[in-house]
Amino acid sequence: MALKYLEISGGRPLFGEIQIQGSKNAALPILASCILSEGTCRIGNCPAIQDVEDTLEIMRGLGCSVSRRGDAVWVDASGIRTWEIRAEQAARIRSSVLFLGALLGRFGEAVLPRPGGCAIGGRPIDLHQKALEQLGASFHGFGPIRAEAKKLKGSRIRLPFPSVGATENCVLACALAKGESWIENSAREPEIDELCAFLNRRGARIWRTDPGTLYIQGVSRLEPADWEISPDRIVAGTYLMAAACTGGSICVRGCSGEALAAVGKVFRQMGAEVWNQGNQWAVAVKGRLQGIPYLETRPYPGFPTDLQSPLMAALCVASGRSRIRETIFENRFSTAWELKKMGAEIWIQGNLACIEGVSRLKGDMVRATDLRGGAALVLAGLQAEGTTRIYGCEYIERGYEDICRDLGGAGARMRTKVTFGGDEK
Ligand code: UD1
Repeated sequence: MALKYLEISGGRPLFGEIQIQGSKNAALPILASCILSEGTCRIGNCPAIQDVEDTLEIMRGLGCSVSRRGDAVWVDASGIRTWEIRAEQAARIRSSVLFLGALLGRFGEAVLPRPGGCAIGGRPIDLHQKALEQLGASFHGFGPIRAEAKKLKGSRIRLPFPSVGATENCVLACALAKGESWIENSAREPEIDELCAFLNRRGARIWRTDPGTLYIQGVSRLEPADWEISPDRIVAGTYLMAAACTGGSICVRGCSGEALAAVGKVFRQMGAEVWNQGNQWAVAVKGRLQGIPYLETRPYPGFPTDLQSPLMAALCVASGRSRIRETIFENRFSTAWELKKMGAEIWIQGNLACIEGVSRLKGDMVRATDLRGGAALVLAGLQAEGTTRIYGCEYIERGYEDICRDLGGAGARMRTKVTFGGDEK
């Protein structure tokens, strides 16, 4: 059986410039939203990652016609013939849940087997369901989620927590609902505003009345439109972190100052030099990074949970003690056990991780169990002495187009290898 792994020869600082791929978390809801109208949408700068491929498979399964040329994807949802998502397709990706709002919005019916995705926490969908119920949807049955609504009606929804996915599902369902809706305590991630901007280009009427409230005037139909996906702020943050922890200096192009503001602040705390001008960010590090006494992951505009594992990898060799509290996903510390194999000193107590900086990490065989944890292991491998092998690198491919191409261009020595029962390629 073929077994894929990533091999990294560590100990080289990264230097150079990296153009950042399109954002995963913007592309997934934008693609799901294409089914809200007939006609063809062209989505440019759409990242070539596994999560996008899985989403396109779901759309094909529903009857959409989908094609890709270069970085653009064309979706025509005129021929949808079912509103039931297949179990094996839903199991591959968490954001299959977004088809609930989109299918209900257009057809008033949706069947969704339990969504899969990275094992970073329980990941319930109660907030999605409650919000959609407020719009008039009813849910039936055990096992697959069966939802129906004769006609969705606008409502004032207050989310108990600013969930990204629940906010997106509400937006998708409200765009075509009858009357006005308010989504209070909505998530404020830039990818949500991008989804709203795309829908507005297609005729929707959505805007923020204050930072936490989305106001939506339902319209009777949407038109297809073209869109260019924005660069991925999490990928940009990962690469900046990679340069910082190897003592190098890189510039990433594509992410606005605001999108990475919380990350820039943390870099400065760690003693890195950071510049932001327009859509360019650069980081440079001379000497050893400093630990961070205390940091909490928070919903946007706070420090993103998606960069918590890469940050932990960087802090493993920073001077002094760091403490990170993970407040969003309870299982995001599983990468710590792999980092410990490489010589890191980390203690976990509930949702708090204490990291005592060591002078160096040592290459080893480790296993990725989620997307961002996998990226963190890449950062650890880049700083480590010797060779690191990362198994489970398929997780990394869910969100990074080609991490070897991007970091290799900045001087990293890393490549993907495959073994066939002992033979290597
Ligand atoms: C999205 C992002 C993911 C990011 C996360 C938080 C996409 C495709 N994924 O995931 O990369 O890490 O936001 O920024 O955009 N929760 C509930 N009930 C619900 C929904 C969520 O309890 O119905 C909880 C979750 O278990 C979690 C927290 O709320 O503890 C945040 O989840 P949410 O913001 O919904 O994350 P996702 O949309 O899944």
